[in-house]
Amino acid sequence: MKITLNSPLDMHLHLRDGDMLKLTAPLSADFAGAVIMPNLVPPVTTPTAMQGYAARIASAMDGAAFSSYMTLFFTPMSEKELQAAKETPGFFGFKLYPAGITTNSEGGISDMAQADTTLKLMEEMGIPLLVHGESHGFVMDREQEFLSVYRHLATKYPKLKLSMEHITTAAALRLLDEFPNICATVTLQHLIITLDDVAGGALRPHLFCKPIAKRPEDRDALLQAALNGHPRLMFGSDSAPHPRCKKEACGCAAGVFTAPVALPRLAEIFATNGAADKLQGFVSGNACAWYGLTPVQKTITLQDTPMMVPASYRSYGEQVVPMYAGESIGWSIVR
Ligand code: NCD
Ligand code: ZN
Repeated sequence: MKITLNSPLDMHLHLRDGDMLKLTAPLSADFAGAVIMPNLVPPVTTPTAMQGYAARIASAMDGAAFSSYMTLFFTPMSEKELQAAKETPGFFGFKLYPAGITTNSEGGISDMAQADTTLKLMEEMGIPLLVHGESHGFVMDREQEFLSVYRHLATKYPKLKLSMEHITTAAALRLLDEFPNICATVTLQHLIITLDDVAGGALRPHLFCKPIAKRPEDRDALLQAALNGHPRLMFGSDSAPHPRCKKEACGCAAGVFTAPVALPRLAEIFATNGAADKLQGFVSGNACAWYGLTPVQKTITLQDTPMMVPASYRSYGEQVVPMYAGESIGWSIVR
């Protein structure tokens, strides 16, 4: 069996910078484009820094046709600053992090009231807001505790293009249905794993990410929503590479590196569940419709021929371990 996709998009991607960027960029080049996260050190907060980063990504893509939808790390901004951002080529929207909630987010927002004026302006100017929605509460409850913030934002700024990033719970899906003005991204791993896979047996650091994988009923609800073609649910891998030594360590960094296996595994999941016809919407159509995107034209064909996933990817002195490292997965990309 084969599935051909038109211009697949990854709506939440960490490519990092420097040597790590040179390693990761080609591994996302089967996508036609991606929303690029700004949590570098220091975070990408200005149009100038963003343009420089976009140029380094383009160079690391080594000629591949790829649209980088660039985000800026949310900080309160004036109308003039927002206008300058909006006019910068490649700019997509803002990513808001609660302060200290995840990797390199110390400069995030500690009180949502700080964001008020800027969000009002963004609503008027049609600038999307992407949110890492977790509280600082008990780890299993963080997303659910943050839902009241989404509810508040969706009510207060009804025209704001608001995205709940990497949702992991059935409760977040219910909020999506409650508010037609919200969209959401979901990762590959949260369609597949639960907390049991991370910590139920021997600890598996390469499956540890934020938000942490939740309960079977959460995973099942997310998977069903994707397979049923929920029009406001989009694929965002949150592929988040960290050097092997930072993952296999005391104090393991959060992030699952899924870029090299994302499209084959999605094809396998949708095909084996009889939902192959819903994959195009999930990996491209829903995002294009919601944001009005026109990514570069690219077709990619996936087949039910197994792929051996490398134990790690090494280059430029970096080494990263992907999801399914050293295992065989059921589908692969036709080269
Ligand atoms: C991401 C990272 O490493 O940048 N980590 C993760 O666990 N997902 C940050 C993020 O998206 O939370
Ligand atoms: Zn992320």
